[in-house]
Amino acid sequence: MAKYVISEGVPLRGSVRVDGAKNAVLPIIAASLLSESKSIIEEVPDLNDVRIMCDLLRCLGTDVQKQSDPTTISFETKEITNSTAPYELVNKLRASFLVMGPMLARTGYVRVALPGGCPIGSRPVDLHLKGFSALGAEITQGHGYIEARKNKKLVGNKIYLDFPSVGATENIMMAAVMAEGQTIIENAANEPEIVDLASYLNEMGAIVVGAGTDTIRIEGVTSMKGCTHTVIPDRIEAGTFMIAAAITNGEVRIENVVPDHLKPVVAKLKETGLEISEELSAITVKSIGGLKPIDVKTLPYPGFPTDMQAQVTSMLSCIPGTSMVIETIFENRFMHISELKRMGANIKIDGRTAVIEGKPCLTGACVKATDLRAGAALVLAGLAAEGATEISEIQHIDRGYSGFAEKLKSLGAKITRVED
Ligand code: UD1
Repeated sequence: MAKYVISEGVPLRGSVRVDGAKNAVLPIIAASLLSESKSIIEEVPDLNDVRIMCDLLRCLGTDVQKQSDPTTISFETKEITNSTAPYELVNKLRASFLVMGPMLARTGYVRVALPGGCPIGSRPVDLHLKGFSALGAEITQGHGYIEARKNKKLVGNKIYLDFPSVGATENIMMAAVMAEGQTIIENAANEPEIVDLASYLNEMGAIVVGAGTDTIRIEGVTSMKGCTHTVIPDRIEAGTFMIAAAITNGEVRIENVVPDHLKPVVAKLKETGLEISEELSAITVKSIGGLKPIDVKTLPYPGFPTDMQAQVTSMLSCIPGTSMVIETIFENRFMHISELKRMGANIKIDGRTAVIEGKPCLTGACVKATDLRAGAALVLAGLAAEGATEISEIQHIDRGYSGFAEKLKSLGAKITRVED
C-alpha cells in the first residue's frame, strides 16, 4: 500500500488548478444510461471512483471511451445487456447505487447490490426507494440485492424527502425524467452537484426545473438523447487547498472554482481572520498567522459541507483557543480525530460535537487515513506539523484527489508518495 511522507511543514505558495467535481461526475455518468445515444463528458477527474463507475457501466453494456483529451470520456449505451449491478463493484463505490434510477427508467427492471455499511455511518437508501415506489416501481429485497421493476410504466408523483439527501434527490430525478406526467421532489437537496446533474439531464432532452432550490419539478419526456457536457469544478478539492494555504501560513491562488459554490467555506474561514479574495473563477487565500478559533456546524447546502469537516478540524487544531465542530449529516464522521490526537491535537468528542483546544503547532507522526476526507485532513495536518509525518492507507485519498502530492509539491510542499 502506498503512503505519503511529509518531511516538514512549510508555507505553501503559488497557484493550483482544481479538477472537475467527483460528486458531480458520478451521477452524470450514471445518467448517461438513460439514452442509447453517445454523450461526451468533459472535465472528468482522473480518480479511482470514476474508474469504478466506468467499470460498472461497462458491465451494464456501455461503451466507455477515453478521448484524446484525457479528461474527456464518451459513454454510449446502445443496449442495456445486464440488469445487475454486482456486489463487487457496488461494495467499492457507494455512488454506484445511482444506476438504479436511470436503469429503472430505461428498461423497467434493475437489480443492485445493497451498498452496506461504510466508515462514516450506516448510510441507508430508504429515501431512494421511497421515491421509486412513489413513481410506481415495485421494490423487493433479498440475498443482499434490491430489485426495482415497473409494472407498466412509471408515473410522476409528489415526493417529499424526510431529509434533503443528495443521492436520493439524484436517483429520483433520474428515474422521473421519463415517467408519465409531472414529478415534484420536495425538500430536495440543493447542492451544486444536483444543479449540474439537472443541466446534464436537460441537455439530454429532459425537462427539469428548480434544481438548486428545495422543490424540483420534472415533466416526463418519452426519450433522451446524447449531448456534450462539462462537469463543474470540485468545490471540496478547492476548499481543501484553501485550508492548505491557511494551515501553512501561505498564500495560494486556487483556479477553476465557482466562488459561489464555496460561500459557506469562505464565510467561515474569513471568520478566523484569513484574507480571502474572489475573482470570476479563482479564489486566493492568504494567511499571515494570528488566526482566531471559530465554531463550525455541518449542514446541507448552502450550509458548511460535511465533506470539509475533517479538513477544517485539522486547521482549528492549529489555532490557539477553543473551537467547536458539530457534525449533523453523518453519525460517525470523527475518525480523523484519534489520528489527529497522535499528532498532538487536543480534541474532545461529545456525541456529534468536537471541542478543539487549538495549539500553535502539531507534531509529525505516523497516522492512517480511515476515509477520503479524513485522509485529506491528515495530509493538511502534516503540511503544518513540526517534523515528519507519514500517512498510510492513502488509497482512500486517491478516491477523491487526483495528483494530490504533485499539486501540493508545485506549491512547495515537502511531500512524497512512496509506493510500497
Ligand atoms: C453525497 C456525497 C458525499 C457527501 C454527502 C452529503 C456523492 C457521491 N457523495 O453522499 O460526499 O458527504 O452527499 O453532502 O455525491 N440518508 C438516509 N436515507 C437515504 C439517504 C441518505 O437516511 O435514503 C441519510 C444518510 O445516512 C446521511 C444523510 O442522509 O446521514 C446524508 O446522506 P446523502 O445526502 O444521501 O449523502 P450521499 O448522497 O450518500
